[in-house]
This record gives sequence, structure tokens and C-alpha cells, in this order.
Amino acid sequence: MSELTLTSLDVAKIREDFPLLTTPFHGKPMHYLDSAVSGQMPGVVIERMAHYQRFEHTNVHRGVSTLSQEATDRFEEAREKVRAFIKAPSVKQIVWTRGTTEAINLVAQSWGRTNLKDGDEILLSAMEHHANIVPWQMLATEKGASIRVIPMDDRGVLDLDALDALLTPRVKVLGITHVSNVLGTVNPLKEIIAKAHAKGVVVVVDGAQAVPHLAVDVVDLDADFYVFSGHKLSGPTGIGVLYGKKELLEAMPPWQGGGNMILSVSWEKTTYMGVPGKFEAGTPPIAEAIGLGAAIDYLNAIGLDRIAAVEHALLDYATAELSNIEGLRIIGTAPGKASVLSFVLEGIHPHDVGSILDHEGVVVRAGHHCAQPVMTRFNIPATTRASFAYFNDKADVDALVAGIQQVKEIFS
Ligand code: ALA
Repeated sequence: MSELTLTSLDVAKIREDFPLLTTPFHGKPMHYLDSAVSGQMPGVVIERMAHYQRFEHTNVHRGVSTLSQEATDRFEEAREKVRAFIKAPSVKQIVWTRGTTEAINLVAQSWGRTNLKDGDEILLSAMEHHANIVPWQMLATEKGASIRVIPMDDRGVLDLDALDALLTPRVKVLGITHVSNVLGTVNPLKEIIAKAHAKGVVVVVDGAQAVPHLAVDVVDLDADFYVFSGHKLSGPTGIGVLYGKKELLEAMPPWQGGGNMILSVSWEKTTYMGVPGKFEAGTPPIAEAIGLGAAIDYLNAIGLDRIAAVEHALLDYATAELSNIEGLRIIGTAPGKASVLSFVLEGIHPHDVGSILDHEGVVVRAGHHCAQPVMTRFNIPATTRASFAYFNDKADVDALVAGIQQVKEIFS
């Protein structure tokens, strides 16, 4: 592993920014290897949200009070930070949601209900999270549409020849993850989106696992919709983002009705705001949006390129170490994958692996990772998954390896 990369990033110093990571866990040092389930928030994000709650809080987009105007300014500044982060052309293309799941439901219910009809097809990849499956299944049932699936090989690489064959005139929409939460596969989105667009298919990208690891440029990708959650990005839960192309968002009907999304209401007729307001009914998660903006500032200060370098070095080191363990099989071996490492241990259930690791202070996720079709594809019930972030170091990987050896001894 390149010590130079680690030194330049000064991971040890970064860890000090995270109260949880520097607090003993089961009396042992905390080794948090579960950033794919939820990223940890640095102190500056927690403090920014607390400052807002203590000194700046009121509702936004309502009233002429200075307090309300300033809260609105902070809230809209956060939207601008998100816009710049994914290089969207306009803040009007950034819709706040509760998270990735709500953003995909919004697209399925608003765009999907308007544009799909009986006999149409919805194309999904074989590695989707349930969040990018179930909303489409619900829509398919309602509309009489059907779901088709792009297969993947044993490494977790999508079959792009199969994609070509699946892109028939019946397909109206493609839902695809940028990075697989189980396998770590980084899909060749630009190529996939170009293929879909050549057939007039709208593409909805689940970017939840991509934004913490890669610099995303929604215009360069030519994504029609790109969604992600704040809590995977060192921000809080309860806030997420829907980016959409202007013409698509403008043509879509509102999804939820209520305050803040209207221009005027009478008993006879209601008119709606333009984008993004028409999709933001009710009081939004204000502190959470501001917290996400602070998280983006924090990540930008470190630099996504440096984050990627550290994570890749750790992934390479961990992959080499785990590959030496007898009876351990890594699930997801696509070239160029992101820092997600799923594995199974022969004869030992992942839940047992996860529980024993937990007592050693090593926090991982064990289960189907909300991607049961991926488990079925690999003919396994579950995996144990370690996922690395910019605050992890070699000691975290060493603790993981030692913990796995201990699991093996217990079950031998
Ligand atoms: N999608 C999250 C995960 O992969 C919850 O763990």
C-alpha cells in the first residue's frame, strides 16, 4: 500500500474530526468499515446543524422576518453546493427529497405514471438495490408494464451485449446504479446512457454509492435523472437529492400536494410553482440540507481525488489480505471497483461473522444489503460486507483480517 498516499491525506488527523471513530467500542478501538450503510459525520457537520438549530431556526420560504429570510438563504446555499458538487447546470434542477428511495419513488410516480402505459418495459440492471426495483415494480403493476433485467457475469460486470438486445422499442426507462452497494462494481454509465438514449430511453441513475467515492458530472454522463442520499456523503439522514434534466422536470406533474409547492389555491383551482418548488411540498428538512452542504464543503476540502486514492489503496490491500484467507470468497471482482468488499466464509453464516467482528470493534454489515436479487444471482443467502471511507487506514483492515481469523478459529 502506498504510504505516500496515506501521508498526503493524513488520515490520522482526519479521524480526529469524527467523535464516534475516536471513542472506544466494546472497550476496543473502533474500526468503522460500514460507510456503505451510512457514512459517519465529521464534527463540523454536526456542529453546523446544531448551530442552525440553536441560533438560526425557523421555517423557510415563508414570511418576511429576517430570521426566515436568513434560514432560506442558508437552505438555498446548500442547494447551490449540491448543484456545484454534481456539476448540474442550474439549482432549479436540484430537488430536495428525504433520500435516494424517495427520489426514485418521485420519478416513478410522477414521470413514470405520466409516460408509461400497458405493454411498456422498464429495464433494470441485475445489481440494483431494492430502492431501484420496488418503485418500478409498483408502477409496472399499476400500468401493465413489465420489468426486464440486464444480466451480469460472475465478477459482477454487466453484459452490455445483452443490454443492446434488451433495448427494444418497448423499453421506456432504464434504472441503473452507478456503483453497486454489494459488489462495488462501477458501471460504465456514459456508455450505457448513450446506448439507452440512442433508443429514446430515459435513464434514472441511483448514485447513492457513487457520490462518496467519485467525482460526478451529471452533464458529462448525460443522465436524465441522478439521485443520492446525504447520509452516504458524510451528511445527515433524512435529506437526499433528485437531479433531473430541466425539460423532464418541467413536464412532470407534482407528486405530493400541500404547502410551499403552490402559486395559488382556491376551491376551484390550484396552480403550482415551477421546479424545484412544485416537488417540495411541506416543510423541508432544513437543518439536514444545511448539514449536507457542510459535508460537501468538508469533502471538497479534502478532495475527491485524494479520497479515491486512499480508498483504492485500502481496497487493494484488503483484497490481497482477504484473498489469502482459506475458505473466503470475495463476491464482486469487477475491474476498477469501488471500495466495497463483500465476502462469504465457507460454512459460516455472515450474521455470525458480523457479530463476532462487532465484538472486536470491527463494524461491518452482514445480510442481503437490500439487494436480494444479487444474492440469488450468486446463489448465496447473504454476505459480510466491509466498506472503506477516507477516514479508514491499514489498522482497520488488519483488525478485519484478525477478526476473520478469530471467526474461523471459533468455528473450526
Ligand atoms: N443501501 C445501504 C447499504 O447498502 C443501506 O447498506
